[in-house]
Amino acid sequence: MAGPVLCVSGLTKRFRRFEALVGVNLSVEPGTVFSLLGQNGAGKTTLIKVLLGILKPSEGTAQVLGFPVGSVQARRKIGYLPEDHRFPEYHTGPSLLEFYGGLQGIPRQERRKRIGFWLDRVGLGGRETVRIREYSKGMKQRIGIAQALIHDPDLIFLDEPTDGVDPVGRREIRDLMLDLKRMGKTLFLNSHLLGEVELVSDRVAILNKGKMVREGSLTELTGSRPSWIFGFAGDPIAFRQILMAKGVQCSVMEKPGASPPHQWEVFPESEAVFGELVKLAGEDPAGLRFLQPRRESLEDVYLKSLGQREAVSA
Ligand SMILES: Nc1ncnc2c1ncn2[C@@H]1O[C@H](COP(=O)(O)OP(=O)(O)OP(=O)(O)O)[C@@H](O)[C@H]1O
Ligand SMILES: [Mg+2]
Repeated sequence: MAGPVLCVSGLTKRFRRFEALVGVNLSVEPGTVFSLLGQNGAGKTTLIKVLLGILKPSEGTAQVLGFPVGSVQARRKIGYLPEDHRFPEYHTGPSLLEFYGGLQGIPRQERRKRIGFWLDRVGLGGRETVRIREYSKGMKQRIGIAQALIHDPDLIFLDEPTDGVDPVGRREIRDLMLDLKRMGKTLFLNSHLLGEVELVSDRVAILNKGKMVREGSLTELTGSRPSWIFGFAGDPIAFRQILMAKGVQCSVMEKPGASPPHQWEVFPESEAVFGELVKLAGEDPAGLRFLQPRRESLEDVYLKSLGQREAVSA
């Protein structure tokens, strides 16, 4: 479709007098992965529920797939993995997907094919006779993801998709998310796992107490403080003195008790200063071993935007 898949403007959600979302604006382009970060209670699930039409906004507007939020046309094209879902425990994987596939109006023959496909795809192939009451946490997440995808939606909301899933399973789910993106699907992800978010997302937004405090592509969010790590075999006394004399911002990278090579994170103000420092570092008797660019991690950006960390390493 042309234009954004999600378009939210001035969205506020109040529960009595408590404001769970305050003036949220966002736009999500088709075929991208959009991730929402925030502390417990920040309003992430509330935002998803408003976008699904489960909760009514108190103020503002939201359009989903070109339709007003909550419309039947939009819902048909949306998949949803809720957080803490509880599917009826007497179901097996196939019977649960049969039930949801039926609700979505998928013809019986087609349903059969899709159920087999998705059970295999989420790693539940061969476990068809196991009832949900006997499922492990990770198996519950996997069947929840299959349930969200069975009707081939264009836009998929995943609220903590890897919650309780082991590292191998998390990797598989991540690969599945990237496959869905390659197929042109749009993904809206809520997650606390910043490393995971960093690996799959095109854009990231940070909610703090219902307010959107940062939004941007990963490069926009993490590229604001480019620095370089200079790694030496020994202590670069001459190089350090030059950094001090020139007033170049820098910090030592060593962890307590770590042995050489000695590493310094340096923030050159310009290309010219950087070039000069590279030359001087190369001449230092301590022996330059490596030079590596460094971006802020998403964790640095996240903590800073919540006021938990003033500066990254200074
Ligand atoms: N139905 C409701 N009635 C009253 N308050 C609610 C309701 N639903 C959510 N809230 C409140 O709104 C705030 C946001 O909750 P929400 O579940 O959206 O947070 P979240 O960011 O998804 O947190 P978590 O990371 O723990 O899942 C919380 O303070 C919560 O108590
Ligand atoms: Mg939540």
